[in-house]
Amino acid sequence: MFFSGKIIEVTKLSSDYYKTDIKLFEKISQSPKPFQFVMLWIPRKDLMPMSVADYHDDILTIIFKVRGEGTKTLAQNPGFVGVNGFYGKGIKDLYERKILFVAGGSGVAPLPYLTRYFRDKISIDVIWGFRYHHQYFDLSNIISSRSVGEIFYVAEDCVDKRFYCGKATDLYQKIIKRERDKWDLVIASGPKEMLAKICEINRELDVYVNLENHVKCGLGFCGSCVLKPTSKLLCVDGPLFSCDEVAEYLSQN
Ligand code: FES
Repeated sequence: MFFSGKIIEVTKLSSDYYKTDIKLFEKISQSPKPFQFVMLWIPRKDLMPMSVADYHDDILTIIFKVRGEGTKTLAQNPGFVGVNGFYGKGIKDLYERKILFVAGGSGVAPLPYLTRYFRDKISIDVIWGFRYHHQYFDLSNIISSRSVGEIFYVAEDCVDKRFYCGKATDLYQKIIKRERDKWDLVIASGPKEMLAKICEINRELDVYVNLENHVKCGLGFCGSCVLKPTSKLLCVDGPLFSCDEVAEYLSQN
C-alpha cells in the first residue's frame, strides 16, 4: 500500500546515524509487525528499503545511516516522502521469550519497534556493535519499553574505554559461552558476514537472522532479492529467517 507522509523531525543521533519521524496522511488499518520494512521514496532522489524502527499513532520512525544520495537528502529533511509497505512477513509470536538481540551497525534499527510491539511480554538484552566510537548513541533514548535489560556496546576502533573492544560477534561468543541459559532465543541483525558468524558460534541455540539484500519491487515479482543459491525471496519470505533456512546463502561470499 502507498502512503504519503510529511517528515516532522530529523534527529542526528551520532556522527552518521539519524532518526526521522514521518507523519503518514492515510490511516493504517493494520500496524506493521516487527522486522517488516517499507520502501521509502524520496521524490526525485531515491527509493530505498528501510526497516520499521518504530510506529505509533500514524507516525513511522526510520533510523538510518548516511550512505548515498537518498539518505543524504533524508538527513536534510526533504519535507514530503512516499512510503510503500509494509513488506516482509515480520514476526508476531515472541511472547514470553528471553531474547538476546545482536546488532551490527544500522542492523539495530528494528529494535525500538520490537520492544514496543511486545512491551513487557518479552525480556531482551542487547549487544550493539559499530566500527567507530563516534557512531555511538544511547539506545535507551530511542527505546520506549522497559523490557530491555542490559545493553552492551562494542566498538571496533577500541579508542573509547566505555565500549567493549572488538566486534559484536566477539562479545557474543564470550557471553554466550558464560551465560548460555540466560536466553532462549537469539535475533541477529546486521551485515551478512556477522550473521554467518553468529549462526556458526552456537548451533544448539534458537537463532534468527534479519537479512539485508537488494529489494526493488518488495512484492515477490522482480527476483532481485532472491537469496541465492536458495529460492527464497527476502521481501516475501523474510527478512527474518532461522539459520537453517538460509545456511547456504550465508555460506556464500
Ligand atoms: S524485491 Fe522483487 S522479488 Fe523481492
